[in-house]
Amino acid sequence: MSHSSDTTVGDAGVRHHIALVGLMGSGKSSIGAILAERLRRVLIDTDHLVETHTGTSIAELFASKGEAAFRRYELDSLMRALARDESSVIATGGGVVTSSDARQMLALDATVVWLRASPQVLAQRIHNDATRPLIGGRDPVEVLTELDAERAPLYAEVAHAEVDAESGDPEQVAMAVLDVLGLRP
Ligand code: S3P
Repeated sequence: MSHSSDTTVGDAGVRHHIALVGLMGSGKSSIGAILAERLRRVLIDTDHLVETHTGTSIAELFASKGEAAFRRYELDSLMRALARDESSVIATGGGVVTSSDARQMLALDATVVWLRASPQVLAQRIHNDATRPLIGGRDPVEVLTELDAERAPLYAEVAHAEVDAESGDPEQVAMAVLDVLGLRP
């Protein structure tokens, strides 16, 4: 897999919201922060919005109200993020694309970049993070392989571009995103 897809989106084609999608551990938040700084855009993290809105952590929310409730809050956060006038970089949660409403909103209002990495590499990155409710004590490679199979077609459906987020540090991956969007100075 190369660092970026063959198709460069191009400056004129980049919308005022850039949304990063991909599985947990793909670096959406850290790469989003670098992009936001470089592009002088506000960074919006939908997981943080959910936590602020509900006053609880994602893990607690999953435990107390379940995944379906979390998805409703997540969709609401995405909607609020996309409604902002300010140009932004939006770091989404890995499962946002499971909602067809979310996919439709992203397709309409954002330039979407899919950060791709293999389940094996992602599992290594999140290995010691006990706060991830979807892992739930199972083998992370197994869970991520299932999620990858289920979600890869959905990421592909919404993404305008994809970037290899498997090798290289966050700075290098962020530069690859700028390249693919035609925004590298
Ligand atoms: C989830 C990913 C998490 C968070 C929640 C559910 C998922 O976000 O939204 O735990 O369904 O893959 P990150 O992708 O930022 O870890």
